[in-house]
Amino acid sequence: MSNTPSTSAEFSHTTVLLHETVAMVLGVKQLNDVTSKVSGVYVDATFGRGGHSRLLLEYLAPEATLVVFDKDPQAIAAAEALAAQDARIKVVHDSFANLTNNLQALGIDQVDGLMADLGVSSPQLDDGARGFSFMRDGAVDMRMDTTRGEPVSEWLQRVSADELADVLYQYGEERHSRKIARAIKAMESYTSTLQLAEVIKQAHPAWQKGKHPATQSFQAMRIFINNELGDVEAFLAQSIGVLKAGGMLAVISFHSLEDRLIKQFLQRHSRGQYEEDAHLPIIPKRPKYFGKPKRVGPSDQEVKANPRARSAWLRGAERSDVALAQDKVQDED
Ligand SMILES: C[S@@+](CC[C@H](N)C(=O)[O-])C[C@H]1O[C@@H](n2cnc3c(N)ncnc32)[C@H](O)[C@@H]1O
Repeated sequence: MSNTPSTSAEFSHTTVLLHETVAMVLGVKQLNDVTSKVSGVYVDATFGRGGHSRLLLEYLAPEATLVVFDKDPQAIAAAEALAAQDARIKVVHDSFANLTNNLQALGIDQVDGLMADLGVSSPQLDDGARGFSFMRDGAVDMRMDTTRGEPVSEWLQRVSADELADVLYQYGEERHSRKIARAIKAMESYTSTLQLAEVIKQAHPAWQKGKHPATQSFQAMRIFINNELGDVEAFLAQSIGVLKAGGMLAVISFHSLEDRLIKQFLQRHSRGQYEEDAHLPIIPKRPKYFGKPKRVGPSDQEVKANPRARSAWLRGAERSDVALAQDKVQDED
């Protein structure tokens, strides 16, 4: 089940690290290890077209609950269509940055598993009108949630060349950010993604073979306008309070900026080592909120079948019983 059908006949999404993620969120090595249906409350923080959710539902008992989040109204329409046929599903149209509040509004304090598959979906990229693609023409929008916030076109009108360059550098790791930002700011309007991509291409002095010169700039503007890194940080921080002891966190990322955030978060909270403590005369003992972090990449077979999977990493860990973890810290004293 690696090809997940979309509710839209036009655009579909091939789910990445499907079995691996569902196994991780269920706390098993592989799905064959699940011997009976699982009760409890689970969250899919990025429903998309529901690839991960649909497989997880196959393992959940009738009394289980699956709360699904997405920012994108089209993803939410797909989630609602599925929820209409399956009473275990609860749909939240909001950012996973508001995880705790939305769960509380549903009467849920803690959950057994949290999964997220970050970034954009294929339907978002493939629909030129959404503005995510430098290969298809459309309005320069790039918002995941088209019902709120500011499209990139409006932001480009008001941002200074210096601020724009900082965004291209920070979120796209674009080395030629100043030159590109000046060229973008010299444009008269921002109504076409293809025009914007062409201006970036002309301004870019060093093209990498096989990579469109606008790749990093488009990624940067998308990450900025959707506050992607801020949302991930907020989500990870809340996972500590939301997961039950023994509950699993499983997060897929597609670029190094996000992967670094997840890796560092899990390291910090599994080792109980905080960078800021390094400057203190006596290093405090911090709770170890998570067990040993796990990391899983796509198989060669998956990358061959779906090139989008090539940069994906799945990271996760089990929420530890902090009362026990704290006891251990005291024992060591
Ligand atoms: C890679 S796709 C998920 C695909 C999904 N796992 C599937 O198999 O169909 C990422 C989804 O996350 C959503 N998304 C991204 N950031 C979000 C956020 N902060 N809060 C909620 N949804 C978000 C996007 O709108 C997109 O639909």
